[in-house]
Amino acid sequence: MATLTFLGIESSCDDSAAAVVRHGPDGAPKVLASVVQGQVALHADFGGVVPEIAARAHAERLDHCVEQALAEAGVTLADLDGIAVTSGPGLIGGVLSGVMLAKGLAAGSGKPLLGVNHLAGHALTPRLTDGLPFPYLMLLVSGGHCQFLIADGVDRFHRIGGTIDDAPGEAFDKTAKLLGLPQPGGPAVEREAAQGDPARFAFPRPLLDRPGCDLSFSGLKTALLRARDALVAEQGGITVQDRRDLCAGFQAAVADVLAEKTRRALLAYLALNPAAPALAVAGGVAANAAIRAGLETVSAQQGVRFLAPPLRLCTDNAAMIAWAGIERFRAGLGGDADLVARPRWPLDASAAPMIGSGKKGAKA
Ligand code: KG4
Ligand code: ZN
Repeated sequence: MATLTFLGIESSCDDSAAAVVRHGPDGAPKVLASVVQGQVALHADFGGVVPEIAARAHAERLDHCVEQALAEAGVTLADLDGIAVTSGPGLIGGVLSGVMLAKGLAAGSGKPLLGVNHLAGHALTPRLTDGLPFPYLMLLVSGGHCQFLIADGVDRFHRIGGTIDDAPGEAFDKTAKLLGLPQPGGPAVEREAAQGDPARFAFPRPLLDRPGCDLSFSGLKTALLRARDALVAEQGGITVQDRRDLCAGFQAAVADVLAEKTRRALLAYLALNPAAPALAVAGGVAANAAIRAGLETVSAQQGVRFLAPPLRLCTDNAAMIAWAGIERFRAGLGGDADLVARPRWPLDASAAPMIGSGKKGAKA
């Protein structure tokens, strides 16, 4: 096995990112550099990611990210064995910025160009961080994604469930907005919840009454809005403790739903008799301690190893794209000189399309 050094480029949502990853015959893959420039401040006034602003920022920043990643890694374009870029799914303007830059770099350097599905990047991350063998169960939980995937191979993913409306991170962000907390909402809601009573408000556990692993979070947000409005009507506003209790109730509902749906997804996965069963998570929501504890518990109950990559590789980054490029190259799936940007691109083409689509673009 030859040593491979890949550049990765990511621009499908609101992070401009470039990274260099190296993988040799002996030892684990190494992230030589991983540069991520977020855009939270650019979109802060608009209550969500504005596609035009995101695309422009990617176009302005991506080449600097690439330069910085190459410099930090101590390599030049000539040292690379390939260039991997997110070619979907995501906001089309951003994806195009990345694809055009990668095409230019590949043409100029004569290096192979590989298009990577952003979700595959997330889903292959536990192999970058822990060398996890296939098949494993993957739960993607972020501001834009929510799905259960059985990863069978570099290019073989089976989706066994996902959100039918909002992603959980989106629900945290909207909850924060409704309660006057800062964005991103997840960490803010978690902080408030720590001092709240999760039992005071009886929020619904959507879709638990239905079989399967699909999830729904938009009803929960509506329930929270109603509880808040009822308090305002009664008292003329909400107290600090009301807010803490609302956050605690909301977080407990999300954690319960994710734990129960994960328990069911694990059963479907264990039916395949994997030799070393494992559940891995990706996405910013996995940072939530209550949610993570629920996932750890259901994994332990079923004798399944639980893996959460370090947060910087769990959230959007380009190291996962470079790594997916290396995996695809080794599997003989490389060489996409005529690559096109795909705003919608389900990982599992055989699964029925999900209807959900949120502020961060297609959930595929
Ligand atoms: O993976 P990520 O950085 O980006 C994408 O959405 O692609 O995830 C960001 C999302 C945001 O919606 C944020 O509110 C949520 O993850 N998040 C959390 C926490 N930290 C971040 N949600 C709940 N609890 C947290 N501690
Ligand atoms: Zn992502």
